[in-house]
Amino acid sequence: MKKILVIGGNGQLGNCIRKIAPDFELDYEFTFTDSQTLDITSEDQITSFFYDNKPDFCINASAYTAVDLAETEKEKAFRVNAEGVAYLAQACKDFKTTFIHVSTDYVFDGETNLCYSEDDFTSPIGVYGESKLKGEELALEINPKTIILRTSWLYSEFNKNFVKTMLNLFSQKDELGIVSDQFGQPTNANDLAEAIMNIIEAPQKTYGIFHFSNYPETTWFEFAKKIAEFSGSTIKLNPLTTEQYPTPAKRPKRSTMCLDKIEETYKIEPKHWENSLEECVEILSK
Ligand SMILES: NC(=O)c1ccc[n+]([C@@H]2O[C@H](COP(=O)([O-])OP(=O)(O)OC[C@H]3O[C@@H](n4cnc5c(N)ncnc54)[C@H](OP(=O)(O)O)[C@@H]3O)[C@@H](O)[C@H]2O)c1
Repeated sequence: MKKILVIGGNGQLGNCIRKIAPDFELDYEFTFTDSQTLDITSEDQITSFFYDNKPDFCINASAYTAVDLAETEKEKAFRVNAEGVAYLAQACKDFKTTFIHVSTDYVFDGETNLCYSEDDFTSPIGVYGESKLKGEELALEINPKTIILRTSWLYSEFNKNFVKTMLNLFSQKDELGIVSDQFGQPTNANDLAEAIMNIIEAPQKTYGIFHFSNYPETTWFEFAKKIAEFSGSTIKLNPLTTEQYPTPAKRPKRSTMCLDKIEETYKIEPKHWENSLEECVEILSK
C-alpha cells in the first residue's frame, strides 16, 4: 500500500482530497495534516514526520493564501510559501517521496492578451505571488523531481472563497458591484483534487511545472453572474473597473493559463468552468 501525505488537510484543496480519498483506499493510505499537527515552517517537525511516516507521495495543499494581507505580512507569507516549501522539497528528496506542490497564476503580471504557458516569463505584482514564485524556484532547485501545479481562482464547498462570499452577499443585498476587467480561469478545487490523483496514478511521471484550471477564461463579473444564475438569485450585479474597487494587493489583469501541457502529458482534460461551478453551487444550495 502506497502512502500519501496531504499537508494542509483543513484547506479547500485538502478537504477536496479528503472527500475522494475513500475511492482510492484499496491502493493508498492517506494521512492528512494541518498547521497544528505539522507546521511546514519547522524543518525539525518535517524531518521527524518524514522519518516516522516515510510517505511515497507528499501533496502540499498548504499555503499562506491571504493575498491582500500578504502585502503587510511579507515575512509570514515567505516563511510558509517559500521557506516551508523548501523544507518539504528537501525532505521529499531525502526520503524519495514524490513531491506534488500547488502554486498560482499570480506568479504572472497579467500583462498579456494570450494565455501563459508553463515556461513564460514570471513577474508577480504582489507579495503573495512573489512568495509563491520563490517556493516554486526553491522546490525545483532542491528537488528536480517535483511536480508543480499552478492553479487559479480556486473555490469549493469548503472554507472561504469567492463563490461562498457571493452566495452570502446575495442573501444580504439587492445590488452588488463586481470587477469586470480582470480575466482568469475559475477552478473547482474538487477538479484539482481529481487531477492530482490522476497524476499520482499515472504509471510514468513527468516532473516540472504544469498549469491546471477550469476553462475558458472569464471575468469576476461574469463568474458572479453565473453564481447568481445557478443559485436562483435575482440580485442586480453591476460591472466595476479595477480602479473603482481598490484592494491592498494588485491583481493581474489577465492571468489565463494555457492548459495543453497537462492534457498532453497526463491526459487530464480540464472541465468547462460553468459546469464545475454549477456542481459546487448545487452542493452549497442543499
Ligand atoms: N485560493 C485560491 O484562489 C488559489 C488560487 C491559486 C492557487 N492557490 C493555491 O492552491 C493551494 C490550495 O489553496 P487553498 O485555497 O486550498 O488554501 P486554503 O483553503 O487557504 O488552505 C491553506 C491551508 O494551509 C494551511 N497552512 C497555512 N500555514 C501552514 C503552515 N505553516 N503549516 C502547515 N499548514 C499551513 C492552513 O492550515 P490550518 O487551517 O490548519 O491553519 C490552511 O488550511 C495553495 O497552494 C494556494 O496557494 C489558491
